[in-house]
Amino acid sequence: MSHPAITEIAAEFTENYLGEFDAEHAGELRDARAHAADLGIECVSHQVAALLKLLAASTQAQAIIEVGTGTGISGAALLEGMKTGGVLTSIDLEAEYQRHAKELFTGLGCESNRTRLIAGRALDVLPRLSDAAYDLIFVDADAGEYPAILIQTKRLLRIGGLVIFHGAFATGIADASARDYEATAMRELATELRSDNDWLPSLLTVGAGLFLASRRTP
Ligand SMILES: C[S@@+](CC[C@H](N)C(=O)[O-])C[C@H]1O[C@@H](n2cnc3c(N)ncnc32)[C@H](O)[C@@H]1O
Repeated sequence: MSHPAITEIAAEFTENYLGEFDAEHAGELRDARAHAADLGIECVSHQVAALLKLLAASTQAQAIIEVGTGTGISGAALLEGMKTGGVLTSIDLEAEYQRHAKELFTGLGCESNRTRLIAGRALDVLPRLSDAAYDLIFVDADAGEYPAILIQTKRLLRIGGLVIFHGAFATGIADASARDYEATAMRELATELRSDNDWLPSLLTVGAGLFLASRRTP
């Protein structure tokens, strides 16, 4: 167990260590974070963005799904990490947020055919996407829907593909007395990932907390 004070220092150091994942475009990323703040959207932290870029690069992802576009910070990190010709499919309820995201992607020099932005509810859109066609799925939306989204991701990922759920500790998952919709759903997600042999799971305390699991053969 690490000491709480050390954890706080470590978290601050970690967040400042790399800064934005793309120093050359730090201005555009700052603007996108400012738009997000105006709209009341919480973007992924610097460290989570850097990790997403790393994971997209190390899995050599060519096809990624993102649930929760926001103003595009996490999507931009995934685009930078994935293969040059790869395509990011990103879903959000709000078309207005996606307009900001599109602006960011263009500002970072990303060709328009590399992004497919779909305005809609994740659980309406995901069932329309192809089986076993994706290398990585990043979910950063309504925690209450995570267990239902997990069922979809199992079908959508290729074997060896990676699913990442953001916000584990933004809910009351670690507080045994928390019984609200989001904490309950996050516990359900945690249990499912741990008990289903099709998943090889891990839980990281990076950012708001990340559940990470690789899709494996049973
Ligand atoms: C935390 S923000 C995403 C931030 C973004 N990943 C980033 O780091 O820049 C969550 C987003 O999920 C979207 N959202 C919430 N519930 C959703 C759902 N059921 N289907 C699709 N999008 C949803 C919200 O509109 C919001 O833009």
